[in-house]
Amino acid sequence: MAVVIALDAGTTGVRAIAFDPTGRVVDFRYREFTQHFPRPGWVEHDADEIWTAMVGVTAELMAAIASPVAAIGITDQRETVVAWDRRSGRPLHRAIVWQDRRGAARCDQLTADGHLPLVRRQSGLVLDPYFSASKIEWLLTEGGVAAGPNLALGTVDSWLLWKLTGGEVHATEPSNASRTMLYDITAHRWSPELCDLFGVPTEALPTVMASSGRFGVTSERSGLPPGIPISGIAGDQQAALFGQACFSPGATKNTYGTGSFVLMNVGSDCPEPVDGLLTTVAWSVPDPSAPGGVRTDYAFEGAIFSTGSAIQWLRDGLGIISSASEAGPLAASVPSTDDVYFVPAFTGLGSPWWDPYARGTLVGVTRGTTRAHLTRAVVEAMAFQTRDVVDAMSAHSGHPVTGLRADGGASAMDLLMQLQADQLGVPVRRPVVQETTALGAAYLAGLAEGVWSSTDDIAANWVLDAEFVPDPDRTEADAAHRRWLEAVARSRAWTT
Ligand SMILES: Nc1ncnc2c1ncn2[C@@H]1O[C@H](COP(=O)(O)OP(=O)(O)OP(=O)(O)O)[C@@H](O)[C@H]1O
Ligand SMILES: [Mg+2]
Repeated sequence: MAVVIALDAGTTGVRAIAFDPTGRVVDFRYREFTQHFPRPGWVEHDADEIWTAMVGVTAELMAAIASPVAAIGITDQRETVVAWDRRSGRPLHRAIVWQDRRGAARCDQLTADGHLPLVRRQSGLVLDPYFSASKIEWLLTEGGVAAGPNLALGTVDSWLLWKLTGGEVHATEPSNASRTMLYDITAHRWSPELCDLFGVPTEALPTVMASSGRFGVTSERSGLPPGIPISGIAGDQQAALFGQACFSPGATKNTYGTGSFVLMNVGSDCPEPVDGLLTTVAWSVPDPSAPGGVRTDYAFEGAIFSTGSAIQWLRDGLGIISSASEAGPLAASVPSTDDVYFVPAFTGLGSPWWDPYARGTLVGVTRGTTRAHLTRAVVEAMAFQTRDVVDAMSAHSGHPVTGLRADGGASAMDLLMQLQADQLGVPVRRPVVQETTALGAAYLAGLAEGVWSSTDDIAANWVLDAEFVPDPDRTEADAAHRRWLEAVARSRAWTT
């Protein structure tokens, strides 16, 4: 029986996962890689280390599962930029990671100069250093990366694709491209105006292909068996939306990982922007009835930067838990936080506030506050932040959120899932396969290679693990949420 292998290049580690045609995990390998924090607010990765880790886990996985591989799909941390030399194949600088805020002042300047409407209209984004454009500009102006015929720029997907194909293919697809702030999401091309604004040479950017379709095949030079088709790519959050089978307009998922990302499918007509939210490409897929044979679907997105990373901070920064899996039981050991609130604005706040200058804030601490209260406050913050985003979606999208599909590492906490249902007032459903990011990439690749014949085929694979039903009495949840908003106000505009 053939498998589809998904390569999931996340923020803290890489995974290679083999899925069978029912969408179940056959086997997987995982490896963490180094996080570099050269200055406060800066976050970098070594792109060579990401590649070495990824090809390593993939080779190990292939050796372990004796099955033929029908296709490879790639999914990646989005917005992170890699610059490399086409001749040597070597990175020209460390990759600048999505969490990195070094472009904050530049984005302020561009807003002051009146460029926000252009950015909003063409890219669907807001002018924030989170996106790739100001990071690429920094590489070219401050980072010692020179433009020229040998320069290749791309997000992590295109770097991995280029390495897998032995330097043959420099391509990406619209879900990743739409996070660069250089891509026109309705004209379906790199925007000359935005590239000009950030001084990005378009010839260094990858070709934009459909998210599902053959990008190329593995090369002998990659160190993997040659000739395996690479046939699906999507950014991690859009891949999770696909892996959660959120195929119809209104369907919404939240992934509780390093950050949390709420995405709602809004169909194939690009909607008007909604305050506080991003409009982004969900994916582009072959569709004989669409113009040009390719249909692009869009999503509203709320990007919350720090959620699971706050659990890691409890573990690594404060040492008050020894593993992430202790967080849920410890938080559940107290009935409330006793009015303690924690705003995990480690790298500023994303949706719906967009404040790169906010910083982490703990309020309401008394002598009776324990590590259990603090841990519970960290868990509750995940539910509050998600509510802030979902409230904005429900109010303005024309599709009120009627249920949420949950996934990601922190969705393992039943307490979080229940708090989330209570905050939103809608049911939260968690599927059996929580590796939805990788699964989405596998589905996009397998669709192109005939492993699955349609999205209906894929939707039939979605199996419920647990459903969390909201408390019909919203008094307590609403009161806590109001206090949370006061804490958010205190975390804002902490000028550094
Ligand atoms: N059992 C658990 N209980 C609570 N939190 C957990 C648990 N397991 C993992 N986490 C948290 O979930 C996060 C990891 O989730 P996941 O693996 O989905 O992250 P990710 O965002 O995909 O990783 P990457 O950033 O590398 O892509 C970590 O921040 C961790 O603190
Ligand atoms: Mg991930």
